[in-house]
Amino acid sequence: MTATMDTTKLDQFVGQMVGNMTGAAVCAGVWLGDSLGLYRALADAGPQSSDVLGSSTGCNGRLVREWLDGQAAAGLIEYDPATDTYELSPEATAVLADETSPAFVARGMNTLAAMFIDLAAVEEAFRSDGAMSWGDHHPCLFDGTEWFFRNGYRAMLTTEWIPALDGVDEKLTAGARVADIGCGHGASSVVLAEAYPASEVHGFDLHAPSVQVAEARAAEAGVSNRTTFTAADARGYRGLFDLICFFDCLHDMGDPLGAARHAREQLAPGGTVLLVEPFALDDRTENLTENPMAALLYHASSTLCTPNSLSQEVGCGLGAQAGEVRLREVFTQAGYSTFRRVAQTPLNLILEAKP
Ligand SMILES: C[S@@+](CC[C@H](N)C(=O)[O-])C[C@H]1O[C@@H](n2cnc3c(N)ncnc32)[C@H](O)[C@@H]1O
Repeated sequence: MTATMDTTKLDQFVGQMVGNMTGAAVCAGVWLGDSLGLYRALADAGPQSSDVLGSSTGCNGRLVREWLDGQAAAGLIEYDPATDTYELSPEATAVLADETSPAFVARGMNTLAAMFIDLAAVEEAFRSDGAMSWGDHHPCLFDGTEWFFRNGYRAMLTTEWIPALDGVDEKLTAGARVADIGCGHGASSVVLAEAYPASEVHGFDLHAPSVQVAEARAAEAGVSNRTTFTAADARGYRGLFDLICFFDCLHDMGDPLGAARHAREQLAPGGTVLLVEPFALDDRTENLTENPMAALLYHASSTLCTPNSLSQEVGCGLGAQAGEVRLREVFTQAGYSTFRRVAQTPLNLILEAKP
Protein backbone atom coordinates (compact mmCIF):
# COMPACT_ATOMS: atom_id res chain seq x y z
CA MET A 1 0.00 0.00 0.00
CA THR A 2 1.43 3.40 -0.96
CA ALA A 3 1.22 6.02 1.79
CA THR A 4 -0.63 9.16 0.73
CA MET A 5 1.29 12.39 0.79
CA ASP A 6 -0.14 14.92 3.27
CA THR A 7 0.40 18.25 1.52
CA THR A 8 0.05 20.24 4.75
CA LYS A 9 2.81 18.16 6.33
CA LEU A 10 4.84 18.52 3.15
CA ASP A 11 4.59 22.31 3.37
CA GLN A 12 5.61 22.19 7.02
CA PHE A 13 8.57 19.97 6.18
CA VAL A 14 9.75 22.31 3.43
CA GLY A 15 9.35 25.21 5.89
CA GLN A 16 11.45 23.29 8.41
CA MET A 17 14.17 22.81 5.79
CA VAL A 18 14.09 26.50 4.84
CA GLY A 19 14.58 27.21 8.56
CA ASN A 20 17.58 24.87 8.62
CA MET A 21 19.07 26.48 5.51
CA THR A 22 18.51 29.92 7.01
CA GLY A 23 20.24 28.79 10.21
CA ALA A 24 23.25 27.54 8.25
CA ALA A 25 23.49 30.79 6.25
CA VAL A 26 23.09 32.93 9.37
CA CYS A 27 25.84 30.92 11.10
CA ALA A 28 28.17 31.75 8.21
CA GLY A 29 27.17 35.40 8.62
CA VAL A 30 27.86 35.26 12.36
CA TRP A 31 31.26 33.75 11.64
CA LEU A 32 32.01 36.69 9.31
CA GLY A 33 30.70 39.26 11.76
CA ASP A 34 32.97 37.96 14.50
CA SER A 35 35.96 37.41 12.26
CA LEU A 36 35.77 40.87 10.64
CA GLY A 37 35.12 42.64 13.95
CA LEU A 38 31.74 43.94 12.76
CA TYR A 39 29.85 43.05 15.95
CA ARG A 40 32.55 44.51 18.20
CA ALA A 41 32.59 47.76 16.20
CA LEU A 42 28.80 48.01 16.42
CA ALA A 43 28.84 47.30 20.15
CA ASP A 44 31.57 49.86 20.79
CA ALA A 45 30.20 52.76 18.74
CA GLY A 46 26.42 52.40 19.04
CA PRO A 47 23.97 52.94 16.16
CA GLN A 48 25.69 53.51 12.85
CA SER A 49 25.16 53.41 9.12
CA SER A 50 26.58 50.66 6.94
CA ASP A 51 29.11 53.11 5.43
CA VAL A 52 30.42 54.16 8.82
CA LEU A 53 30.67 50.53 9.98
CA GLY A 54 32.39 49.58 6.72
CA SER A 55 35.04 52.28 7.03
CA SER A 56 35.66 51.81 10.77
CA THR A 57 36.31 48.08 10.22
CA GLY A 58 38.20 48.45 6.91
CA CYS A 59 35.50 46.48 5.08
CA ASN A 60 33.74 47.04 1.77
CA GLY A 61 30.70 49.22 2.51
CA ARG A 62 28.46 47.56 -0.06
CA LEU A 63 29.13 44.09 1.34
CA VAL A 64 28.71 45.34 4.89
CA ARG A 65 25.27 46.77 4.03
CA GLU A 66 24.19 43.46 2.52
CA TRP A 67 25.48 41.60 5.60
CA LEU A 68 23.70 44.05 7.93
CA ASP A 69 20.41 43.57 6.14
CA GLY A 70 20.80 39.81 6.42
CA GLN A 71 21.49 40.15 10.13
CA ALA A 72 18.51 42.49 10.57
CA ALA A 73 16.26 40.09 8.66
CA ALA A 74 17.46 37.28 10.93
CA GLY A 75 16.58 39.39 13.99
CA LEU A 76 20.17 39.61 15.24
CA ILE A 77 20.77 43.30 14.59
CA GLU A 78 18.23 46.13 14.96
CA TYR A 79 17.59 48.50 12.04
CA ASP A 80 16.18 52.02 12.40
CA PRO A 81 14.67 53.11 9.05
CA ALA A 82 14.31 56.73 10.23
CA THR A 83 18.08 57.18 10.56
CA ASP A 84 19.16 54.29 8.31
CA THR A 85 21.35 52.96 11.12
CA TYR A 86 21.99 49.55 12.68
CA GLU A 87 22.41 48.71 16.35
CA LEU A 88 23.17 45.75 18.63
CA SER A 89 20.82 45.28 21.60
CA PRO A 90 22.44 44.55 24.99
CA GLU A 91 21.44 40.89 24.58
CA ALA A 92 22.93 40.67 21.08
CA THR A 93 26.09 42.32 22.41
CA ALA A 94 26.40 39.61 25.08
CA VAL A 95 25.93 36.80 22.56
CA LEU A 96 27.78 38.19 19.54
CA ALA A 97 30.30 40.85 20.62
CA ASP A 98 31.42 40.49 24.22
CA GLU A 99 34.05 37.74 24.47
CA THR A 100 33.87 37.81 28.27
CA SER A 101 30.13 37.16 28.43
CA PRO A 102 29.03 33.62 29.41
CA ALA A 103 26.44 33.93 26.62
CA PHE A 104 29.03 34.66 23.89
CA VAL A 105 28.61 32.07 21.13
CA ALA A 106 29.76 33.91 17.99
CA ARG A 107 33.20 32.31 17.79
CA GLY A 108 31.78 28.82 18.29
CA MET A 109 30.67 29.15 14.64
CA ASN A 110 34.19 28.04 13.76
CA THR A 111 33.12 24.52 14.71
CA LEU A 112 30.27 24.63 12.21
CA ALA A 113 32.61 26.09 9.59
CA ALA A 114 34.93 23.08 10.08
CA MET A 115 31.98 20.73 9.55
CA PHE A 116 31.39 22.27 6.13
CA ILE A 117 35.05 22.75 5.12
CA ASP A 118 35.89 19.12 5.94
CA LEU A 119 32.79 17.53 4.42
CA ALA A 120 34.66 15.78 1.61
CA ALA A 121 36.99 14.04 4.07
CA VAL A 122 34.09 13.15 6.37
CA GLU A 123 32.20 11.73 3.39
CA GLU A 124 35.23 9.56 2.68
CA ALA A 125 35.19 8.37 6.33
CA PHE A 126 31.49 7.46 6.01
CA ARG A 127 32.30 5.41 2.92
CA SER A 128 35.23 3.60 4.53
CA ASP A 129 36.17 2.64 8.09
CA GLY A 130 34.58 5.72 9.67
CA ALA A 131 37.91 7.06 10.88
CA MET A 132 38.98 10.70 10.72
CA SER A 133 41.42 12.01 13.26
CA TRP A 134 40.75 15.26 15.17
CA GLY A 135 44.05 16.69 13.90
CA ASP A 136 43.04 16.15 10.26
CA HIS A 137 40.31 18.79 10.50
CA HIS A 138 40.66 22.43 9.45
CA PRO A 139 42.24 24.41 12.33
CA CYS A 140 39.04 26.42 12.76
CA LEU A 141 37.66 23.34 14.53
CA PHE A 142 40.16 23.76 17.36
CA ASP A 143 39.31 27.46 17.82
CA GLY A 144 35.61 26.74 17.49
CA THR A 145 35.72 24.01 20.14
CA GLU A 146 37.64 26.27 22.51
CA TRP A 147 35.09 29.06 22.15
CA PHE A 148 32.06 26.77 22.12
CA PHE A 149 32.89 25.53 25.63
CA ARG A 150 35.13 28.21 27.11
CA ASN A 151 32.56 30.61 28.46
CA GLY A 152 30.61 27.84 30.17
CA TYR A 153 33.81 26.76 31.91
CA ARG A 154 34.54 30.36 32.87
CA ALA A 155 31.04 30.83 34.26
CA MET A 156 30.53 27.51 36.06
CA LEU A 157 33.63 25.35 36.46
CA THR A 158 35.07 26.83 39.65
CA THR A 159 31.90 28.45 40.98
CA GLU A 160 29.49 25.52 40.63
CA TRP A 161 31.03 22.31 39.31
CA ILE A 162 34.17 21.98 41.47
CA PRO A 163 32.30 23.03 44.65
CA ALA A 164 29.76 20.27 43.91
CA LEU A 165 32.51 17.62 44.10
CA ASP A 166 33.23 16.00 47.45
CA GLY A 167 36.04 17.97 49.18
CA VAL A 168 37.78 19.03 45.97
CA ASP A 169 37.38 22.81 46.26
CA GLU A 170 39.14 22.74 49.65
CA LYS A 171 41.98 20.60 48.29
CA LEU A 172 42.55 22.83 45.26
CA THR A 173 42.43 25.96 47.41
CA ALA A 174 45.10 24.50 49.70
CA GLY A 175 47.22 23.35 46.75
CA ALA A 176 46.76 20.14 44.75
CA ARG A 177 47.81 18.46 41.52
CA VAL A 178 45.28 18.54 38.71
CA ALA A 179 45.39 16.78 35.32
CA ASP A 180 43.24 18.08 32.46
CA ILE A 181 43.04 15.24 29.93
CA GLY A 182 42.17 16.10 26.31
CA CYS A 183 42.70 19.75 27.28
CA GLY A 184 42.58 21.12 23.71
CA HIS A 185 43.41 24.83 23.79
CA GLY A 186 43.50 24.73 27.59
CA ALA A 187 40.35 26.78 28.26
CA SER A 188 39.50 24.72 31.34
CA SER A 189 43.14 24.45 32.51
CA VAL A 190 43.49 28.24 32.52
CA VAL A 191 40.23 28.71 34.46
CA LEU A 192 41.41 26.19 37.08
CA ALA A 193 44.88 27.74 37.37
CA GLU A 194 43.41 31.22 37.74
CA ALA A 195 40.96 30.19 40.47
CA TYR A 196 43.36 28.00 42.44
CA PRO A 197 46.79 29.70 42.46
CA ALA A 198 48.22 27.23 45.01
CA SER A 199 47.51 24.27 42.69
CA GLU A 200 49.37 22.93 39.65
CA VAL A 201 47.41 22.16 36.48
CA HIS A 202 48.87 19.71 33.96
CA GLY A 203 47.13 19.62 30.59
CA PHE A 204 47.51 16.63 28.23
CA ASP A 205 46.21 16.27 24.70
CA LEU A 206 47.08 13.98 21.82
CA HIS A 207 46.96 16.91 19.37
CA ALA A 208 50.35 18.67 19.63
CA PRO A 209 49.29 21.94 17.89
CA SER A 210 46.48 22.36 20.45
CA VAL A 211 48.98 21.84 23.26
CA GLN A 212 51.09 24.70 21.88
CA VAL A 213 48.04 26.99 21.80
CA ALA A 214 47.20 25.97 25.38
CA GLU A 215 50.69 27.05 26.46
CA ALA A 216 50.16 30.42 24.77
CA ARG A 217 46.73 30.83 26.41
CA ALA A 218 48.26 30.12 29.83
CA ALA A 219 51.00 32.69 29.18
CA GLU A 220 48.42 35.33 28.12
CA ALA A 221 46.48 34.64 31.34
CA GLY A 222 49.65 34.89 33.46
CA VAL A 223 49.41 31.32 34.82
CA SER A 224 52.42 29.70 33.09
CA ASN A 225 54.16 29.31 36.46
CA ARG A 226 51.56 26.75 37.59
CA THR A 227 50.56 25.03 34.36
CA THR A 228 52.26 22.56 32.04
CA PHE A 229 50.97 21.22 28.73
CA THR A 230 52.17 17.98 27.17
CA ALA A 231 51.24 16.11 24.01
CA ALA A 232 50.13 12.73 25.35
CA ASP A 233 47.47 10.10 24.85
CA ALA A 234 44.84 9.69 27.59
CA ARG A 235 46.39 6.30 28.35
CA GLY A 236 50.00 7.50 28.22
CA TYR A 237 50.62 10.34 30.72
CA ARG A 238 52.14 9.72 34.14
CA GLY A 239 51.81 11.40 37.53
CA LEU A 240 49.92 11.35 40.78
CA PHE A 241 46.95 13.71 40.72
CA ASP A 242 44.31 14.75 43.26
CA LEU A 243 41.89 15.65 40.49
CA ILE A 244 41.79 14.29 36.93
CA CYS A 245 39.39 16.05 34.57
CA PHE A 246 37.91 15.11 31.22
CA PHE A 247 36.16 18.09 29.66
CA ASP A 248 34.01 17.21 26.64
CA CYS A 249 36.60 14.76 25.37
CA LEU A 250 36.10 11.23 26.80
CA HIS A 251 33.61 10.33 24.07
CA ASP A 252 36.12 11.53 21.42
CA MET A 253 38.62 8.91 22.53
CA GLY A 254 39.09 5.54 20.89
CA ASP A 255 39.37 3.82 24.25
CA PRO A 256 37.34 5.65 26.91
CA LEU A 257 37.47 2.59 29.16
CA GLY A 258 41.28 2.49 28.90
CA ALA A 259 41.38 6.26 29.59
CA ALA A 260 39.17 5.89 32.69
CA ARG A 261 41.26 2.93 33.91
CA HIS A 262 44.52 4.82 33.33
CA ALA A 263 43.13 7.84 35.22
CA ARG A 264 42.32 5.59 38.20
CA GLU A 265 45.93 4.40 38.24
CA GLN A 266 47.20 8.03 38.24
CA LEU A 267 44.94 9.21 41.08
CA ALA A 268 46.49 10.05 44.44
CA PRO A 269 44.77 8.43 47.47
CA GLY A 270 41.38 10.11 47.94
CA GLY A 271 41.54 11.49 44.40
CA THR A 272 38.57 12.34 42.17
CA VAL A 273 37.74 12.23 38.47
CA LEU A 274 35.63 15.07 37.10
CA LEU A 275 33.88 14.02 33.91
CA VAL A 276 32.11 16.67 31.85
CA GLU A 277 30.27 15.28 28.83
CA PRO A 278 27.67 16.67 26.43
CA PHE A 279 24.16 16.57 27.90
CA ALA A 280 22.05 13.59 26.81
CA LEU A 281 19.03 11.72 28.15
CA ASP A 282 19.53 8.01 28.77
CA ASP A 283 16.52 6.85 26.82
CA ARG A 284 17.57 7.28 23.20
CA THR A 285 14.06 7.84 21.86
CA GLU A 286 13.41 10.43 24.55
CA ASN A 287 16.77 12.04 23.81
CA LEU A 288 15.86 12.40 20.13
CA THR A 289 12.60 14.16 20.93
CA GLU A 290 13.12 15.86 24.30
CA ASN A 291 16.75 17.05 24.28
CA PRO A 292 16.86 20.39 22.44
CA MET A 293 20.64 20.02 21.95
CA ALA A 294 20.41 16.53 20.44
CA ALA A 295 20.23 17.54 16.76
CA LEU A 296 23.29 19.78 17.05
CA LEU A 297 25.26 17.32 19.17
CA TYR A 298 24.47 14.21 17.09
CA HIS A 299 25.52 16.03 13.93
CA ALA A 300 28.76 17.19 15.57
CA SER A 301 29.24 13.65 16.87
CA SER A 302 28.79 11.98 13.49
CA THR A 303 31.23 14.32 11.73
CA LEU A 304 33.79 15.17 14.44
CA CYS A 305 33.72 13.12 17.66
CA THR A 306 32.88 9.61 16.50
CA PRO A 307 35.21 9.64 13.45
CA ASN A 308 38.04 10.62 15.81
CA SER A 309 37.18 7.79 18.19
CA LEU A 310 37.11 5.34 15.27
CA SER A 311 40.54 6.59 14.16
CA GLN A 312 42.18 5.43 17.42
CA GLU A 313 43.00 2.06 18.98
CA VAL A 314 39.91 0.15 20.20
CA GLY A 315 37.64 2.51 18.19
CA CYS A 316 34.83 2.42 20.75
CA GLY A 317 32.77 5.16 19.07
CA LEU A 318 31.00 6.13 22.28
CA GLY A 319 29.46 9.21 20.62
CA ALA A 320 28.68 12.64 22.06
CA GLN A 321 25.22 11.51 23.20
CA ALA A 322 26.24 8.55 25.37
CA GLY A 323 24.30 9.69 28.46
CA GLU A 324 24.91 9.08 32.14
CA VAL A 325 24.00 5.37 32.29
CA ARG A 326 26.44 4.44 29.51
CA LEU A 327 29.16 6.64 31.04
CA ARG A 328 28.60 5.02 34.42
CA GLU A 329 29.14 1.59 32.79
CA VAL A 330 32.53 2.78 31.50
CA PHE A 331 33.64 3.96 34.94
CA THR A 332 32.25 0.94 36.80
CA GLN A 333 34.07 -1.36 34.38
CA ALA A 334 37.22 0.70 34.92
CA GLY A 335 37.08 -0.10 38.65
CA TYR A 336 35.50 3.02 40.16
CA SER A 337 33.22 2.44 43.13
CA THR A 338 31.24 5.69 43.03
CA PHE A 339 29.84 7.60 40.08
CA ARG A 340 27.29 10.38 40.47
CA ARG A 341 25.87 13.38 38.65
CA VAL A 342 26.78 16.54 40.54
CA ALA A 343 25.38 19.17 38.18
CA GLN A 344 24.00 19.68 34.70
CA THR A 345 23.47 22.44 32.18
CA PRO A 346 21.53 22.35 28.89
CA LEU A 347 24.90 21.58 27.25
CA ASN A 348 26.67 19.38 29.78
CA LEU A 349 26.42 16.56 32.31
CA ILE A 350 28.86 17.02 35.20
CA LEU A 351 29.83 13.74 36.83
CA GLU A 352 32.09 12.67 39.68
CA ALA A 353 33.87 9.31 39.79
CA LYS A 354 35.95 7.90 42.64
CA PRO A 355 37.90 4.64 42.88
C1 LIG B 1 36.04 18.26 21.79
S1 LIG B 1 37.71 18.56 22.12
C2 LIG B 1 37.63 19.22 23.79
C3 LIG B 1 38.86 20.03 24.13
C4 LIG B 1 38.83 20.67 25.52
N1 LIG B 1 38.75 19.69 26.57
C5 LIG B 1 37.69 21.65 25.63
O1 LIG B 1 36.74 21.37 26.37
O2 LIG B 1 37.76 22.71 24.99
C6 LIG B 1 38.36 16.94 22.36
C7 LIG B 1 39.85 16.91 22.62
O3 LIG B 1 40.22 15.58 22.94
C8 LIG B 1 41.49 15.33 22.39
N2 LIG B 1 41.69 13.88 22.28
C9 LIG B 1 41.03 13.03 21.47
N3 LIG B 1 41.48 11.79 21.65
C10 LIG B 1 42.42 11.84 22.61
C11 LIG B 1 43.23 10.86 23.26
N4 LIG B 1 43.14 9.58 22.95
N5 LIG B 1 44.10 11.29 24.20
C12 LIG B 1 44.19 12.59 24.53
N6 LIG B 1 43.46 13.55 23.96
C13 LIG B 1 42.57 13.18 23.01
C14 LIG B 1 41.44 16.05 21.06
O4 LIG B 1 42.73 16.26 20.53
C15 LIG B 1 40.70 17.32 21.44
O5 LIG B 1 41.57 18.35 21.80
